[in-house]
Parts: sequence; structure tokens; C-alpha cells
Amino acid sequence: MLTKKSRLVLKKKNKSKIVCLTAYSKNIAEEIDNHVDLILVGDSLGSVLYNFETTRKVNLSMMIEHSKSVRKGVKKSLLIVDMPFNTYKNKSQALKNCKKVMKETKCDGIKLEGGRKIIEIVKHLIKYNIPVMGHIGITPQSVRGKFRYKGKTDIEKKNLLKDSKSLEDAGVFAIVLECIEKKVSKKITESINIPTIGIGSSNFCDGQILVTDDLLGLTDNKIKFVKKYADLKSNVRKAVKKFKLDVKKGSYPSIKYSY
Ligand code: KIV
Repeated sequence: MLTKKSRLVLKKKNKSKIVCLTAYSKNIAEEIDNHVDLILVGDSLGSVLYNFETTRKVNLSMMIEHSKSVRKGVKKSLLIVDMPFNTYKNKSQALKNCKKVMKETKCDGIKLEGGRKIIEIVKHLIKYNIPVMGHIGITPQSVRGKFRYKGKTDIEKKNLLKDSKSLEDAGVFAIVLECIEKKVSKKITESINIPTIGIGSSNFCDGQILVTDDLLGLTDNKIKFVKKYADLKSNVRKAVKKFKLDVKKGSYPSIKYSY
């Protein structure tokens, strides 16, 4: 039987796009699970839920608690958890923390940001049977100042290609390409045998991921690659206004809603 991870590789071979989204809680996970291949508990929860300026403030226990909630809503998708900043600084620390995350959240694997700089850590984790997803291009844990897309210059392009190849050789099962110029994303996707999952990196990637809260219109994220497929914010406002009106009028709770 194919494992969930090898199903992703098969999808790449068959040119069937891979659909991925983030989730931070059971309720959202339950709704998206039937429609996606992979659910990521991203450390983007730091900015989306906690209003942190960067993802660097997210810690391991936050990731574990949110992932436990998500786990309860995931039946079929691959569940991947982001390792937060400063939790994989060296081999032994990374292994200890990843084991803890895998054990406590029962996730299927973890995601780390970085390419060749962290390659020995990636190899070490894989040696100990921790499934690893890579993440290159813009890596929010190391961005200071303004976000700028990657792959603009020849040197950036070369480095991204080298990073993706090294990650593949180290044994990662897929790589997130964040905000990488489209021709570079295409080249990376064509030159490796594992799936590339794009976010702001064109439709040349084998799959796509978005932050679900962005897609649903629950955030004010105006970044170029975010397409809002719903406007839940205004739906929430409308529902709350109706509730307020009913309470003021005394029409809620009616007999139907009373014991
Ligand atoms: O933290 C996150 O949500 C991510 C995805 C957007 C790729 O890393």
C-alpha cells in the first residue's frame, strides 16, 4: 500500500496537482480534510492568531497544542507541523524536539526552514525516521525587514537550485517554495523528483499551499499571492449584528431556544 508521502510523489509523476492548506484548530481541519492532500500547522499562526510581528516568537508548546487540536479533525490528509524558530539549532536539539512533536501530536512529519545551511540537521532527523518537509525561498523565521521575492539574481537562482537538490538528496519528501520567481520555480520543479509546493511561486510548482485564514478572508493580508475565496469577516460581522439585534429586542432566545 502506498504511504501518504509516496502518494504525493506519485501525484508529481502523474502531473496531478497537490492541494495543501494550513490549519490551527480542529474545526478548520475537519472542513478542509476531505479536499486537500496535506494540512500544515504552520508557525504563521504567530502572526495570524497571536498578532506577533514575526514567527520568531512562536514556541514549541504553542505548536504542540494547536497541532493536537488539528489532529482531532484530520482523518485522511498528511498532517505536517512546522518546527518553530530556535528549536532545531543543532542535531541533538532538533531530534529531541521533533521526536516530542511527533509523539505528542501524532503528526506525519515536520517542516523546517532552510536549505544547505541546515542540511546536516535534516539528514540526522531522517536517519532517525523523522519525515521532513523542506522550505526554501522566503523563510519567514530568518527574514528581517521587508519581504522580497527570491530568484531575481543569478546567484540567488543558483543557490535555490543547490538548496533544493541538497534537500532532495538528504531525503526530504517535499519542499515548500515560498515567493520564488516563476522561471526559477519551474526549473527547481523540473530538476528534482520530489514534489514542490508553491506559495507565491507560480503554477509551475507540483502543488500549492495557502494560509487558510487568508483564503477565507479572515485576515487583512494584502500580499500579492493571496487570493481571497470567501469574505468570512463580513459574514461574522453580519451574524453578530443580527444576534445583537435579537438580544436587544428580546426575540432571542425564543421559546424554541428555551428550556
Ligand atoms: O507557516 C506557514 O503557514 C507556512 C506556509 C505558509 C508554507 O510555512
